[in-house]
Amino acid sequence: MNIRLFKPSVGEEELEMIRQAFDRSWIGLGPMVTRFEEEWAAYSGARAAIGVNSATAALHLAIASFRFPEGSRVLLPALTFAATASAVLYNRLIPVFVDSDPVTLGLDLDDLERKFTKDCVAVIPVHYAGHPVPMDRLMPWARAHGMKVIEDCAHTAGTRYKGRTLGTWGDIGCYSFEEKKLMTTGDGGMMVTDDPDLFKEVKAMRWVGIDKDNWRTAQRYTGTDADTMHWFYEISVLGWKYNMNDLAASIGLAQLKKLPAMNAHRSRMIRAYLDAIAGIPGVDPLLPFEPETCAYQMFGIRTDRSARLMAGLKSRGIATGRHYTPLGLQPLFAPWGGTTPFVDKEHERFITLPLHADLTLEEVRYVTDAIAEVAAHA
Ligand SMILES: Cc1ncc(COP(=O)(O)O)c(C=O)c1O
Repeated sequence: MNIRLFKPSVGEEELEMIRQAFDRSWIGLGPMVTRFEEEWAAYSGARAAIGVNSATAALHLAIASFRFPEGSRVLLPALTFAATASAVLYNRLIPVFVDSDPVTLGLDLDDLERKFTKDCVAVIPVHYAGHPVPMDRLMPWARAHGMKVIEDCAHTAGTRYKGRTLGTWGDIGCYSFEEKKLMTTGDGGMMVTDDPDLFKEVKAMRWVGIDKDNWRTAQRYTGTDADTMHWFYEISVLGWKYNMNDLAASIGLAQLKKLPAMNAHRSRMIRAYLDAIAGIPGVDPLLPFEPETCAYQMFGIRTDRSARLMAGLKSRGIATGRHYTPLGLQPLFAPWGGTTPFVDKEHERFITLPLHADLTLEEVRYVTDAIAEVAAHA
């Protein structure tokens, strides 16, 4: 047995879309990116979407688009991937780490309130593992304090929370299509916003500041009615080379069609995990999973015997992980650490278990049987 922790689920449909991009001989920023952006906006219920080459790039651009004064503070959870905090540092701002809610492991809203100071300009809720941060409570609080809200949606894609898709509650939502995520383009990301000014700004910033679509330019150039200004573009903002390309978008369009089925499959696997671990003493679900209403990118457990259990699962060919070492404990972020005591200790009890769209019920049973066996002898 060799059970992977994460695995992209890609096949003939994606290959066919790539073939079509090859046939068009247009594999850079082009019509497939535009189509994917339109389909993603429709899927998420946002007014507009912008394709980029990663969620890291999306977070960088999202923060940059607000032009906060250098040295301002940004609130974010300590329990997240480095990219959430790196994006703050890229913008020469100060990360303020917030502890985790002991039950959901999302932002602890009481600690958020305690950490707020008047130089805080934004908050980045991370829907950890795919579990919703209570945006209905966070948004009024953030607005009352004059803060922008950038949702880190790397672990969610399509979950609706109280009538709105996660990612469309804040000012900007940032999704990831890296290979371990709910759907993938190899590497890639998407930003959504309802604000036309932010949209225009970010669209230029993701492509070295150029605010015109080069596919349309080329169309005009090759059309009968060629405009002698076809070569012209204007750069009025500092941008980055962060655009998505047509190859990634082609894969994304095929994946988006499969996303509801892939999410439903993950939910079935989580339900099977939950049913099986309910009977294992000393092993609890990582958080209060609601697989019938949310799509989860990760599944995991909490246990006092995590090291022993991980070693036992490894020896049976089962990959495990820990998401994450809280960022305040990482040397890079340590200068801003030391203020999240709950998660700094609690993460030692976390084990991430295999979850992906091709996982089978037999594999889940193999994993849970192994957990029961190792736990009984721990
Ligand atoms: C919470 C979180 N935010 C951001 C990212 C960055 O995503 P990407 O790999 O698309 O840059 C990740 C990736 O793992 C993540 O888990």
